[in-house]
Amino acid sequence: MKAIKIFSSVLRALLPLIIIPVSVYANVSGTCSSCHTMHNSQNGSTLVAEAQTSLMADSCVGCHSSSGTDTIITIGGSQVPIVYNTTAYPDKPLAGGNFYHVATDDAYGHNVWGISDPDATLTNAPGSTNSCGGGGGILTGCHFSLAVDPSLNTTMMAKGKNGCEGCHLSVKHHSVDPVAGQPENDASGWYRGLSGHYASHFSPLVPGIESSDWEQNPSSSNHNVYSARSDDYIQFNDDSSSPTITAYCVGCHETIHNQLEANVWIRHPADILLPEIGEYSSYDPVDSYNPTVPVGWTDISNRTRSTAAVICLSCHRAHGSQYPDMLRWDYTTMIANGGENNTGCFVCHSEKD
Ligand code: HEC
Ligand code: HEC
Ligand code: HEC
Ligand code: HEC
Ligand code: HEC
Ligand code: HEC
Repeated sequence: MKAIKIFSSVLRALLPLIIIPVSVYANVSGTCSSCHTMHNSQNGSTLVAEAQTSLMADSCVGCHSSSGTDTIITIGGSQVPIVYNTTAYPDKPLAGGNFYHVATDDAYGHNVWGISDPDATLTNAPGSTNSCGGGGGILTGCHFSLAVDPSLNTTMMAKGKNGCEGCHLSVKHHSVDPVAGQPENDASGWYRGLSGHYASHFSPLVPGIESSDWEQNPSSSNHNVYSARSDDYIQFNDDSSSPTITAYCVGCHETIHNQLEANVWIRHPADILLPEIGEYSSYDPVDSYNPTVPVGWTDISNRTRSTAAVICLSCHRAHGSQYPDMLRWDYTTMIANGGENNTGCFVCHSEKD
């Protein structure tokens, strides 16, 4: 990986010489050579040793990381969202958080190839029952780890779907984004290029509406809109009519979602409506959305208080955070009866502080 990172900084050094207008967001722009290499070699030097999808001049990690502190940088004519700041956790992480801590501490996020070795503690996705690819195991099964050296993988599944692409299966850098505020679609690569392998609820093409600055400066009006459903907490339903971001997580973490047994919660529910009564009534995400405690909606285009729902991302970041279990806030500060607190768990459980 080192070679890729060194190349990446060389690429960055050359890019300011190319003058192209900066696009605000939507599809990539700029000269092809900013991002693609035709022969994987220039002036006799080998650029990147490994085969690159789409003749890329850099890897996913290479383009989306930075040794600086900014989380949006410009390459050629395009703004690149940074998900891995290599020297410090950034002040303004994007919606998915940041991989900074995962590079040195497994517990802070998803271990991905190019950033960290496989997780030493979690040898499979917690809750996974998946053992496809010949009995399972980190090298032959699916999704046991997203940090396996691709050259050691023996199955196509594990080979092709590792690292960033293990999750961003449908990313389309040259697609045209929908008009701001409108839902993502097949042509745009779905929400943030996220999808499972099939168009089923179990393996969804993830709908959603994207914040134009990836929530670098989130507010009640500038935020991502996540998809949810209202009744999926009893048993995970394979119903392709309502794909959600939670179903997407559950594609790898299946049983972490089976939450109600004999009318007792065995896991914290997700894809459940946020009740409008009791302690939950104090959170109105329509008028005062709290970006540190997001909700999803059963109809992303028509968001009302009664159709807001708890999602996995209400509590977790997708990539990594500065807290264990990639939580959005410091769980050790959530103290029942510990005095006025309107962060984290207390945003919904407003009467437990
Ligand atoms: C800012 C970076 C960037 C620039 C500039 C860029 N590309 Fe790409 N391109 C990508 C990335 C990243 C992919 C990876 C696969 C994907 O997202 O579809 C890609 C994929 C592709 C693909 C395969 C997938 C598809 O959409 O058909 C083609 C062909 C392609 N680029 C051609 C070009 C050409 C031709 C140019 C110049 C006119 C260009 N690209 C400029 C980043 C860039
Ligand atoms: C050559 C540099 C380059 C490479 C290589 C690259 N990206 Fe990107 N990526 C970009 C740029 C530029 C954007 C911003 C495009 C935009 O504004 O939508 C982007 C945007 C994204 C987004 C956000 C899309 C959205 O809806 O906002 C995701 C997800 C992503 N890339 C994932 C990947 C993955 C996965 C790979 C490896 C397969 C990859 N990128 C490789 C340059 C790159
Ligand atoms: C475990 C699945 C997973 C992995 C692995 C993963 N991503 Fe993501 N990524 C997501 C999700 C989910 C989002 C949407 C986050 C949100 O909107 O809250 C996202 C968002 C993004 C974005 C938009 C910026 C943001 O923070 O919202 C970019 C760019 C991106 N990912 C690139 C990458 C790159 C590059 C890698 C590999 C280093 C990677 N992702 C690995 C699931 C993943
Ligand atoms: C492609 C498979 C895949 C998807 C999709 C996926 N995960 Fe994971 N997840 C894993 C694997 C593998 C591990 C165990 C290794 C690790 O921590 O990286 C893991 C670990 C975790 C952990 C524990 C992290 C730690 O190290 O303690 C959390 C929390 C988590 N995932 C939440 C989520 C959420 C939330 C989503 C949806 C945004 C999601 N996952 C989507 C594969 C996946
Ligand atoms: C209400 C907040 C909340 C929601 C919603 C939530 N989690 Fe968690 N999750 C946590 C907390 C807190 C932990 C830390 C461990 C603990 O306290 O049980 C955790 C831990 C985890 C772990 C690590 C388990 C391990 O063995 O290390 C995974 C994986 C995970 N969550 C995935 C998910 C997925 C997938 C969803 C959606 C189906 C989800 N979480 C929804 C709060 C939440
Ligand atoms: C986005 C809103 C939201 C957040 C954030 C949230 N919860 Fe919940 N929580 C709910 C909902 C909704 C229920 C289910 C209520 C019901 O039974 O109808 C629930 C149920 C529970 C229950 C079970 C209650 C019972 O009646 O059995 C516990 C315990 C709990 N949450 C703890 C936590 C903790 C601890 C955190 C922080 C790590 C947290 N919750 C964060 C919305 C939330």
